[in-house]
Amino acid sequence: MRGKFITIEGTEGVGKTTNIEFIQSWLEAKNLAFVCTREPGGTPLAEQIRELLLAPRDEIVCSTAELLLMFAGRAQHLHQVIKPVLSEGAWVLCDRFTDATYAYQGAGRNMRTDLIAELEMLVQGSLRPDLTLILDIPVEVGLKRASARSEPDRFEQEQVEFFERVRQGYLKIAEENPDRCVIIDASSPLKAVQRQITVALEAFWFSSEESNA
Ligand code: TMP
Repeated sequence: MRGKFITIEGTEGVGKTTNIEFIQSWLEAKNLAFVCTREPGGTPLAEQIRELLLAPRDEIVCSTAELLLMFAGRAQHLHQVIKPVLSEGAWVLCDRFTDATYAYQGAGRNMRTDLIAELEMLVQGSLRPDLTLILDIPVEVGLKRASARSEPDRFEQEQVEFFERVRQGYLKIAEENPDRCVIIDASSPLKAVQRQITVALEAFWFSSEESNA
């Protein structure tokens, strides 16, 4: 039986790292075999593509090149990690996936959604995440947290308006895919955020156990 595919999404500084660790401990407590990975990245080639994408540079990166690099890394990641792991019956926990492309390249960079959908079909076929947790926070709060953490990468150098569009992009994805997306209010204290995540994971676990029965 195919494993489950969980993705974590959100704009900058929403607390993905801490909450991914929390989800890993939930998976361990359930005794589930899983692999934790990320996008862009997840294989040596895709990690190199990540470096190309995130490095600040003087050259203006054209949106189409950015979009194709995202999907190039994703194709490799799916081929080498995600699909084999899922078909062995283990779970995959992925820090970002194609929803990030709809949010950042689609809503953020104003790229056509139908083009993204065509690439999604080419690269993934019918494979979609089973559960997507979207950590949501006011953009200004997230950017403050992210800038306190490290030097800004090429995306973090964008203006506030870009991240507002990305945030709205994520909220639209959640609205259009209520069967798999759960919005987590990541502006609450950490304990409250993790309570919301536990509720979402337990509900998902319960419904997947039921459908296996
Ligand atoms: P991260 O450090 O949060 O993983 O950052 C990766 C950056 O890449 C983040 O700013 C979002 C961006 N990104 C896209 O623009 N499109 C995508 O499809 C993915 C996966 C990430």
